[in-house]
Amino acid sequence: MVAVAKTVQKELTVLIPVDQGALSTLSDSMQYSALGGGKRLRPFLLMESAAMFNVPTRQSVRVAAAVELIHCYSLVHDDLPAMDNDDLRRGEPTNHKIFGEATAILAGDGLLTLAFEILNRPDTKIDSEIRSQLSHGLAQAAGMAGMIGGQAIDLHAENHSLNLSEITRLQQLKTGSLFGFCVEAGTILGSATSKDRAALAGYAQALGLAFQITDDLLDVEGNQDKIGKSVRKDDDAGKATFVSLLGVAEARSKAQTLIEQSIACLAHFNGRAEMLRDVAQFVVSRSH
Ligand code: IPE
Ligand code: IPE
Ligand code: MG
Ligand code: MG
Ligand code: MG
Repeated sequence: MVAVAKTVQKELTVLIPVDQGALSTLSDSMQYSALGGGKRLRPFLLMESAAMFNVPTRQSVRVAAAVELIHCYSLVHDDLPAMDNDDLRRGEPTNHKIFGEATAILAGDGLLTLAFEILNRPDTKIDSEIRSQLSHGLAQAAGMAGMIGGQAIDLHAENHSLNLSEITRLQQLKTGSLFGFCVEAGTILGSATSKDRAALAGYAQALGLAFQITDDLLDVEGNQDKIGKSVRKDDDAGKATFVSLLGVAEARSKAQTLIEQSIACLAHFNGRAEMLRDVAQFVVSRSH
């Protein structure tokens, strides 16, 4: 994961505009939230899936950068006082704590639109039909039928109790859809067979769910210094999560079962999917 994180960091550093004039606060704010750490898990999933189909890195890194920008924007907005009201992100003060709410909102908007600009830049050397499929897929995964829909249900969950299938849907939308796009992008770039596409989609679905369960577990049991964000926020906000519904032990065993399911989806790739298997193990054992 370290090598991918470095490659994506380099790419993002070049792609995020620098401004020394009237837009300097906006560009500083965008850089603050896009270049300041993070596990870069989504780029890893995307680039490793693409590598399985021999896609050149210069293509996959662009798409990975676009997805990471969407993820970073979602965190900036997620932390705003009107949403989760968080002060700490990736071990540093949240964007609005440094730049103020108005700039944080604009920086999020700027990161979101930059993602689509990057996908469609002429120097992103991807065939136009493939580019269009990627833009469509990313918009769907990030929008109302995906991440934003999930965030909306998450807000609703603050004062409504959800059952297991409602929470599963919430988590799948909020977190799983972007994971799903990452592996899908690898298969689109690599013109994969429908069998391979379906296998990776199954992998990402189970992985995304397990990832979010672990995020919710870390909120309850994690160490603020290690995870770089405030803990015990979900319970304070009265948020329905797998942990609030099932309790810690059952949530942990559900995450473990999901990881086994996700790895089972990779069986026919044999050795080619080793990195994806490793990252699945990381997702469920992580402490940050
Ligand atoms: C945090 O995602 C937000 C969720 C979807 C749970 P990550 O845990 O991947 O955050 P970074 O990018 O590593 O900071
Ligand atoms: C955020 O979920 C998911 C998105 C930003 C789409 P959380 O609110 O659980 O993420 P953290 O815990 O603040 O990172
Ligand atoms: Mg949230
Ligand atoms: Mg949050
Ligand atoms: Mg969380």
